Amino acid sequence: PDAQAAPGSCPLAGAESPPELFTWEFAADPYPAYAWLRTHAPVHRTRLPSGVEAWLVTRYADARAALADPRLSKNPAHHDEPAHAKGKTGIPGERKAELMTHLLNIDPPDHTRLRRLVSKAFTPRRVAEFAPRVQELTDSLIDSFAARGSADLIHEFAFPLPIYAICELLGVPREDQDDFRDWAGMMIRHGGGPRGGVARSVKKMRAYLAELIHRKREDLGEESARDDLISGLIRASDHGEHLTENEVAAMAFILLFAGFETTVNLIGNGTYTLLRNPGRRAEFQRAVAEEDSALLASSVEELLRYDGPVELATWRFATRPLEIGGQRIASGDPVLVVLAAADRDPARFPAPDTLDLARTDNQHLGYGHGIHYCLGAPLARLEGQYALGTLLRRLPDLRLAAEPEELRWRGGLIMRGLRTLPVSFTPR
Ligand code: HEM
Repeated sequence: PDAQAAPGSCPLAGAESPPELFTWEFAADPYPAYAWLRTHAPVHRTRLPSGVEAWLVTRYADARAALADPRLSKNPAHHDEPAHAKGKTGIPGERKAELMTHLLNIDPPDHTRLRRLVSKAFTPRRVAEFAPRVQELTDSLIDSFAARGSADLIHEFAFPLPIYAICELLGVPREDQDDFRDWAGMMIRHGGGPRGGVARSVKKMRAYLAELIHRKREDLGEESARDDLISGLIRASDHGEHLTENEVAAMAFILLFAGFETTVNLIGNGTYTLLRNPGRRAEFQRAVAEEDSALLASSVEELLRYDGPVELATWRFATRPLEIGGQRIASGDPVLVVLAAADRDPARFPAPDTLDLARTDNQHLGYGHGIHYCLGAPLARLEGQYALGTLLRRLPDLRLAAEPEELRWRGGLIMRGLRTLPVSFTPR
């Protein structure tokens, strides 16, 4: 049978006090706790594992409104932080550094200017032209384990694909891409864990990007100048304005940082969900075999809604006292919009705990909403559809090689994803 929760089966339904959040059990399945919060404490103040106190917003209507509320700033300078919370709301090791002046940490008018400039370089057309290369990358990764009959789909597939894809788009030379893979690996393995390694990796990546951007700027006038995204960012201009060198570096960094762990988890969570729901998986495989691109697209959107990569949207801070869902929020308070809870809200989605690959009217918040709506959504959709479609087309009897209870979920705050995904299949 498909692994869907039966209606009304929430084990916490009758509980009177708030469920324990951020435990291992919660990481494995946070949805019952989110259902409880949506019903009993839809705007809920909690202490995060880092010690920071924040509001969790769990209803769809409140979440969508909060994501677009100009009174909620993305700039961590608005955080009225107590001493024990200092530095706990940024990328480890990078709080005050130059790479932090990126889209997800700034408000209009700076955000408007930067987003307009990057949108000139990172266009839907650039992404569409990249599609054949995503197919090649996907196939070559599957080639590397197809004859073995088993694989860890996180390390061998979901993780390298987005890294190589973003590196190629940015114009990182092939011979340097494995360094990126290692630095990114350090960030994903230890995000929220030991800080030294992460800080060192971020530092190396920053030094590398500065050098690469410098070289690309020098080459810009040459015949051989490539039409890659970094060159596009250097060239982009709006009313005579360009990005500064530091802004190009911060932009390249955020494209990597925002675009890789998310996509790893889309592929990982998406594959896992399909493997646990045999009926829907058969439907998905039919869509792939019949090249039903509409059903393939709606499937990936539904997988994002059902168990998306971004559990909580990135930080927001109240710039003045305000109310969300009837709850008073003080100026300086951090607010975390729980996308995973909003996207299972029965007030917005009929049968929200059912995986419905053909779901229409599926305006989930998995890519956010408002001015910070995911810039990489077209690329993420492309990678998700190619990765899941190709995997189940080439390895049609793919199966989980572990019990679901044995699988470990990463304990990070913002992202939701598996540490490993062991599978087996008939060798090809
Ligand atoms: C923003 C999700 C892939 C680049 C966001 C936000 C979400 C999100 C929820 C808004 C965060 C907020 O408002 O706090 C996802 C998911 C992805 C994905 C679920 C994969 C399935 C990508 C990729 C890229 C990318 C592949 C680029 C290569 C960005 C950037 C922003 C962003 C630059 C900031 C936009 C801004 O602040 O204006 N993403 N993302 N994302 N995403 Fe994605």
